Amino acid sequence: MARTIKKEQLATNTKLFDLEAPLIAKKCLPGQFVILRIDEQGERIPLTIADYNRENGIITIVVQEVGKSTYQLGKLEVGDEILDLIGPLGNPSEIENFGTVICVGGGVGIAPIYPIARALKEKGNRIISIIGARSKDLLFWEQKVKEVSDELLITTDDGSYRRKGVVTEPLKEILEREKIDRVIAIGPPIMMKFVAKTTQPFKVKTIVSLNPIMVDGTGMCGACRCSVGGKTKFACVDGPEFDAHLVDFDLLMNRLKVYLDEEKNALERYQGK
Ligand SMILES: Cc1cc2nc3c(=O)[nH]c(=O)nc-3n(C[C@H](O)[C@H](O)[C@H](O)COP(=O)(O)OP(=O)(O)OC[C@H]3O[C@@H](n4cnc5c(N)ncnc54)[C@H](O)[C@@H]3O)c2cc1C
Ligand code: FES
Repeated sequence: MARTIKKEQLATNTKLFDLEAPLIAKKCLPGQFVILRIDEQGERIPLTIADYNRENGIITIVVQEVGKSTYQLGKLEVGDEILDLIGPLGNPSEIENFGTVICVGGGVGIAPIYPIARALKEKGNRIISIIGARSKDLLFWEQKVKEVSDELLITTDDGSYRRKGVVTEPLKEILEREKIDRVIAIGPPIMMKFVAKTTQPFKVKTIVSLNPIMVDGTGMCGACRCSVGGKTKFACVDGPEFDAHLVDFDLLMNRLKVYLDEEKNALERYQGK
């Protein structure tokens, strides 16, 4: 059981929850995730740990409502309980002094990129952050990301805030401008695919955090298998972070669509349509 102790609407369809989870807060590191189940009928939802406080035993999750389970989660209020919460899962991000690092967060990916950028900054890296969303109402944590960055660039697809366009445009300009030691990108698979394509000609090591469908999170069910460098990897135990230049993004995107009909039916049943 984990109790929600704070709820905040961050952006359209995007909510933040602070959860009382002292054991997870004690040992989690940037890049790791939890799997939770709201109630006995609930499916298991993987969510990145967007922040944590070891002193008061709190972890923060940021959830975008996309289907039945995430809508149901978004309806929880302060004081409500989540039936089970396991974690920390997955390997932590590699946090070293690389030099200059570009952190790219797209949409809800802004949440998981934040603790990574913060940890990299604490290690002495120069951080250039690029955050982007489809429109202004989907952007959040501008100030938080700014505080851990030496430079922050913001894009919106529709131009409703800051620069019009996608995150790969300023990314390419920076790569042309100066030597970059590492890029880390978290966001929709299509964004991560194009970040990888953008950095490849510059030969800059690029890390992405993959979000395949997951079930057990322990390497036993096989649901999260991905192809990386021609080898099958389980994102839950081998990842979720991988070398972007080796990931088969098209396969990842196809596999995310496998249960579209079932997911649509589940959401319609939940919404009483
Ligand atoms: C390691 C990991 C970390 C994640 N961290 C976060 C996070 O911090 N915040 C957050 O909002 N989401 C995160 N996700 C995605 C989140 O788990 C899914 O959005 C959620 O499980 C969808 O459940 P649902 O029942 O609401 O929607 P479903 O009905 O299952 O799906 C609705 C729609 O979302 C798409 N979808 C389903 N699963 C995923 C997925 N894993 N990734 C992307 N799209 C998906 C489907 O293709 C479908 O179009 C993470 C996923 C992984 C694997
Ligand atoms: S989620 Fe089951 S093997 Fe990764």
